[in-house]
Amino acid sequence: MIIAIDGPAAAGKGTLARRLADEFGFAYLDTGGLYRAVGLSVLRVGGNPADAGVAEAQSKSLDLALLSDPELRAEATGNAASKVAALPGVRANLLDFQRNFAANPPEGRPGAVLDGRDIGTVVCPGADVKLFVTASAEVRAKRRFKELEERGVEPDFGVILADVRERDERDMNREDAPLKPAEDALLLDTSNLDIDAVFLRAAALVKERMAPQ
Ligand code: CDP
Ligand code: CDP
Repeated sequence: MIIAIDGPAAAGKGTLARRLADEFGFAYLDTGGLYRAVGLSVLRVGGNPADAGVAEAQSKSLDLALLSDPELRAEATGNAASKVAALPGVRANLLDFQRNFAANPPEGRPGAVLDGRDIGTVVCPGADVKLFVTASAEVRAKRRFKELEERGVEPDFGVILADVRERDERDMNREDAPLKPAEDALLLDTSNLDIDAVFLRAAALVKERMAPQ
């Protein structure tokens, strides 16, 4: 069983993906983390994230230890991630890892949940369940703001909102694997839905798909 969860920044993809993985005993892959790791490694070597040569080289020999680096979640890393993610060579280099995770979930788990931008459209077009999770840019920026506050950072709401919008724009308008719902995805607008309500709707759909036809 493969569950694909796509949507824009801070829509609640990761929170939902983790809960579904817990509930059904599936493995979870945050594919945004892979793009963030490439973005971070480009920044660390002093490169420009929009430079295909540097970004492709970093994505080819990706250091997976970066996935637990404290800088991985920084806004600057997210921004670099969305720049490297627009490069077809980088996307191609990350594709096998993601498909292999979905087809052979680690620890022999009976399923996998992947979240990102193009899971239902490109990485796993044959996924059993496809969800497209979204919310207004203001709601998503507020969620990010709260997260940063809780981490002891003093965020500027205007800057976060501008960053969310800039990333949406870049992710939706790139040529290769743009952010968009798969035709057969269930759309969940979480602007006015709390985490429990989103989880219950998604879990009901998964159970329906798991039941013998
Ligand atoms: O956590 P947040 O939603 O802010 O972003 P993320 O999922 O960590 O992804 C960071 C960036 O990676 C996104 O802005 C996308 O540009 C890119 N990404 C992508 O292009 N394809 C994916 N499957 C996942 C992420
Ligand atoms: O993975 P993605 O960037 O899409 O979002 P996330 O990290 O799962 O969620 C971003 C923040 O929004 C987290 O602090 C969640 O607790 C919060 N959230 C929420 O308040 N209401 C929801 N329906 C979903 C997420």
